[in-house]
Amino acid sequence: MATKTKSKYLNGLVNTIDGKISREIFVNEDIYQQEQEQVFTRSWLFVGHESQVSKPGDYFVSCMGEESVILCRDREGQIHVFLNSCRHRGMKVCRYDEGNTPVFTCPYHGWSYANDGKLVGVPFFKDAYHEKLDKSKWGLVEVAQLHNYKGTIWATWDTSAPSFLEYLGDFRLYLDLSLDSWDGREGGTEVIGGVQKWLIPCNWKFPAENFSGDSYHNISHRSVDMVGIGPSGAGRRDTQERVNSRRLQVCFPERGHQTGIYVLAGDAPTPSSYQDSPEISEYFRRCEAQRRESKGEWGRVTGSPGEIFPNTALHPRQPRTIAVWHPRGAHQTEVWRWYLVDADAPAEVKDFLRQYYIRYSGPGGLTEQDDMENWNYAHSASRGTIARRHDYSYAQGMGYEQTDFEIDGLKIPGVVMDLTEAKSSEQNLRNFYKRWAEFMDADNWDELATWRNNHG
Ligand code: FES
Ligand SMILES: [Fe+2]
Repeated sequence: MATKTKSKYLNGLVNTIDGKISREIFVNEDIYQQEQEQVFTRSWLFVGHESQVSKPGDYFVSCMGEESVILCRDREGQIHVFLNSCRHRGMKVCRYDEGNTPVFTCPYHGWSYANDGKLVGVPFFKDAYHEKLDKSKWGLVEVAQLHNYKGTIWATWDTSAPSFLEYLGDFRLYLDLSLDSWDGREGGTEVIGGVQKWLIPCNWKFPAENFSGDSYHNISHRSVDMVGIGPSGAGRRDTQERVNSRRLQVCFPERGHQTGIYVLAGDAPTPSSYQDSPEISEYFRRCEAQRRESKGEWGRVTGSPGEIFPNTALHPRQPRTIAVWHPRGAHQTEVWRWYLVDADAPAEVKDFLRQYYIRYSGPGGLTEQDDMENWNYAHSASRGTIARRHDYSYAQGMGYEQTDFEIDGLKIPGVVMDLTEAKSSEQNLRNFYKRWAEFMDADNWDELATWRNNHG
């Protein structure tokens, strides 16, 4: 493995001064190994949704970086995340995707663990171990910190990482665009259907940067826009809502989170129109009117793709999904995509959304197919000895960022680019890589939690 030197990344391989990034960070296998340690063991990662483990004994096998983990609810109702690896010799203690069980019994030699992680059964404990193994010391490895935020479960391996809410900072408002109910009530989402999982032949940072807010690639989606796969049938999303809105990019430099948003004009009518279904259209109009009432001015804000550092992507308002880009080597990513609906939405609304979600997102979704084609070909065309000598350009819109941005009296937290005139900017992409470079250079969370120094 290459030796890590101070500031090798920030303004070295990731040059935020000139807006250039080396292809090495995508294709170099030593760098990939380093980021497993520097990024994935320290960050807060999305593990799953509480609706996937609603009853005691329920479990869902997920991943944190390359590692398999078990999200489960113990008999007392407490949620846990454990490393899915037996303490005896490492066998995966759970080889199913999901289910319900009082104990996880290791298939290799039969150690068994209760769903609170305690080692409860050791074959031949009396005869072979002479009762000398201290079972209380050999339970499943548990994450250092876990947070349930409005039903979404997040975890980190790092005891010194800030709390999840501190990690989010003011980006929380934008995460809420995905997790609050359509009518503005706090929380209330559930996962619909299964989790889609598939492999793509590119580095995980290609999709992560795209969802950070690549506002430049509409050309890729021209065919889905023309076909009109969206709920209104006039584009790939609810285009009426977008027409009545200002389009902004927002990022948080100290945290590495970023997103696009739409801000509806103050006097714009609630805009949904859902083709061929007056009942469904009426349901959304009613929810949107309630949202405007309960959230006040903030009810005018709707979300577009965003990214919580490092590898959780948000797609807040239709199709409402969360994706995780699991690293699987420098040249491969395993995508997991969850689909969210309001738990109390009528069945026909959930079904309408389910159909829209799968024609938009996932391995069979037309829009996501466009994106994947770009990432996969870009990755393979960047691996060659000659290709990797040449940096990528990230200079679009440098120097045009604004702080303390206000629109019709509504304050927008974060650093903002107004895309109404500029059409596109790479601010959010630079923000993502700047934070990535800081993680790669930093020795610990004292160096990473810069907001503590800046704000006393
Ligand atoms: S590896 Fe699990 S009991 Fe031996
Ligand atoms: Fe796209």
